[in-house]
Amino acid sequence: MNTPRRRIVPRLLQLVLVVLGVYLGFILVFDVLLGQLIPKSLLTMYMVFVIAGAIMVFTFTEEGAQELVGPIKALVEDPSKKWVRNVVFVIVPLLAGYYVYSSMLPGFEAPVELRTIHPAPPGKFKAYGKSYNLATLENPFRKFEKEDPAKFKELVKEGGNIYIKNCQYCHGDKLDGKGPYAAGLNPTPLNFQDVGTIAQLQESFLFWRIATGGPGLPGEAAPWISSMPVWQDFLAEDEIWKVILFLYNYTGRQPRSWAHE
Ligand code: HEC
Repeated sequence: MNTPRRRIVPRLLQLVLVVLGVYLGFILVFDVLLGQLIPKSLLTMYMVFVIAGAIMVFTFTEEGAQELVGPIKALVEDPSKKWVRNVVFVIVPLLAGYYVYSSMLPGFEAPVELRTIHPAPPGKFKAYGKSYNLATLENPFRKFEKEDPAKFKELVKEGGNIYIKNCQYCHGDKLDGKGPYAAGLNPTPLNFQDVGTIAQLQESFLFWRIATGGPGLPGEAAPWISSMPVWQDFLAEDEIWKVILFLYNYTGRQPRSWAHE
């Protein structure tokens, strides 16, 4: 049997440190430096790739693989480690049992429904009896933000009035998705303050969603029983563009755009 080389930091620990380092790196770069939170689900996905990649690198050579599993093997086989082994073999099943037990306790939350919150938009859609091309559609009022700030302010204010009259019942007067009707709706109205909603989207996407509402969602977004109304039936085109200005202005977010500013 070949005895593995002694290292200052054992390989198993190296692996754990690499994975931990990448994890903290993600948090540092995105949350702290860029101020852009990564959604939990996305981070989990990244980490699965990171762990898989790290294991591949660490087990690339026969020797490396043996060094990696060495400590685990020793724990199971080495007679002198009997006590540690017994302790580990009691604690690990207990932890696993506790985890399963705690996840089976009844909760009062509604069951999770997996669905695409932001489905891929269609290339074209119909509203107001016209056809719109989502790739080129722009908010006709956005230009006033730079060209005529006074006028822009007025437009945002009009958008705010439209919002209070029509949207706050569901999306909340603070745009946090907690309007008086929200508790009775599933899916719940979206929280525009959350970085996962309008901050990630283009104004044309919002126009499409607002004009065509829940019924306008593509099949892939099923199961959808969205209560989001079809606003082309109630608002003029300009009113939708104004309310979009208001959503971004109030939350202090910028719409996504193709061009970098
Ligand atoms: C009857 C409740 C209700 C009202 C009123 C309502 N919404 Fe919604 N809205 C929802 C629900 C529920 C969702 C989440 C499901 C979905 O995306 O269809 C939603 C989603 C949205 C989205 C999609 C956001 C995203 O991140 O994909 C936008 C934009 C939106 N609403 C804007 C508005 C605007 C603007 C108004 C007012 C003109 C409004 N809503 C009024 C219920 C409502």
